[in-house]
Amino acid sequence: MFVLGIVPPVATLAVFYGRYLRKLSGVTQDSLADATQLAEERIGNIRTVRAFAKENSELQIYMNKISHVLQLAKKEAVARAGFYGATGLTGNLIVLTVLYKGGLMMGEAHMTVGELTSFMMYAFWVGISIGGLGSFYSVLMKGLGAGSRLWELLERKPAMPLNEGIVLLPEEFKGAIEFRGVQFAYPTRQEFSVFNGLDLSIPAGSVMAIVGSSGSGKSTLVSLLLRLYDPVLGTITIDGHNIRSLNPRCLRENIGVVNQEPILFSCSIAENIAYGATKDGDLMMCDIEEAAKVANALEFIRTFPKGFQTMVGEKGVLLSGGQKQRVAIARALLKNPRILLLDEATSALDSENEYLVKEALDRLMEGRTVLIIAHRLSTIQNADAVAVLDQGKIVECGSHQQLLTNSKGLFRKLVEKQTIFQNSQKFVLNA
Ligand SMILES: Nc1ncnc2c1ncn2[C@@H]1O[C@H](COP(=O)(O)OP(=O)(O)OP(=O)(O)O)[C@@H](O)[C@H]1O
Ligand SMILES: [Mg+2]
Repeated sequence: MFVLGIVPPVATLAVFYGRYLRKLSGVTQDSLADATQLAEERIGNIRTVRAFAKENSELQIYMNKISHVLQLAKKEAVARAGFYGATGLTGNLIVLTVLYKGGLMMGEAHMTVGELTSFMMYAFWVGISIGGLGSFYSVLMKGLGAGSRLWELLERKPAMPLNEGIVLLPEEFKGAIEFRGVQFAYPTRQEFSVFNGLDLSIPAGSVMAIVGSSGSGKSTLVSLLLRLYDPVLGTITIDGHNIRSLNPRCLRENIGVVNQEPILFSCSIAENIAYGATKDGDLMMCDIEEAAKVANALEFIRTFPKGFQTMVGEKGVLLSGGQKQRVAIARALLKNPRILLLDEATSALDSENEYLVKEALDRLMEGRTVLIIAHRLSTIQNADAVAVLDQGKIVECGSHQQLLTNSKGLFRKLVEKQTIFQNSQKFVLNA
């Protein structure tokens, strides 16, 4: 009883220390993540950092973040030293008190030397075990502090299902798209609504061009169709099915997309193009070559010593902008999708290459529903219809010619501005 009297204060200490450590390890984890994120982003975009000569200031920012982590680690080390010091001292105090009390009892002949020695051994083990329990508890608390973040992530339920819902057979998937009263704001910027009551209908197998000023929401339209986000109000249907009820996987397998800023993965050109294939098994090299040929990429790939095995680097940095776009087009074409979404797909190409790719795309567009977004109005001349996006709505929709006849229309204004610009360019060239 006398010896175990030491346990309650040690246990109280361990509880307080454990709580402190739990909080501290959560904070440490957060600030370490913060520092790592910064380093990763800046190293990944080292060219931009260099171009703005920001190496030193970035280094300073990282130093500040990492020294905060160091401070926290020092705090933890001090707390740990204090706690282990205290529990170690307790163990030794137990042994000392046993010696003292046992010595007194031996003096009064209540105890033999043998009894005292064996009791000493017991007390010793109890002391070590209490110390062990203390450190176990503290490590447990540290783990809980760091782990709560992980559990938070692991237990997160995705807002959209990954692989549930109606699966349409390939022959059922025609590709008629309809936006009805769509209202949308990005979840991270809910006060700003990108669409308010957007209506647009794209018949199956037709080519719809979307034009509008920068920031009017053209790329957002692509994200909504891919169901990367759900609209706040209104519906988007494909062949009469609300895309909320469709299996997102089936939906995306039938959509080919070339993004405004195509991202390639750091592997070979062949692997990047093959990424578009929906089924891995029966993909042949000749399919990849065919897709590259249609995207007008074969020529430049052949000039590389390693051809299709050329590595493209992280995000494709080892290719030029136009080359990257053509690989991305090939990747989308290999999929042979019912719906093709081209978001500024040829914006980084020179006129000749753009013409060649456009020609190839025109051939491929047959029988597919195509949504084509382009700033250069020359790219969209062959579209069946043009929709003009402004202030979160479709303000004009019709054929190229129809829209041009509307003298007050936004489309005509856009065309006029570009024509004036092009003429002035020609004038400069001629001069
Ligand atoms: N992930 C996002 N989170 C919050 N807001 C966003 C996000 N992406 C885009 N936006 C905002 O939504 C609006 C529409 O953007 P979107 O990219 O669709 O424009 P866009 O018409 O494609 O423009 P551009 O012609 O320049 O490509 C913009 O005001 C933009 O700032
Ligand atoms: Mg865009």
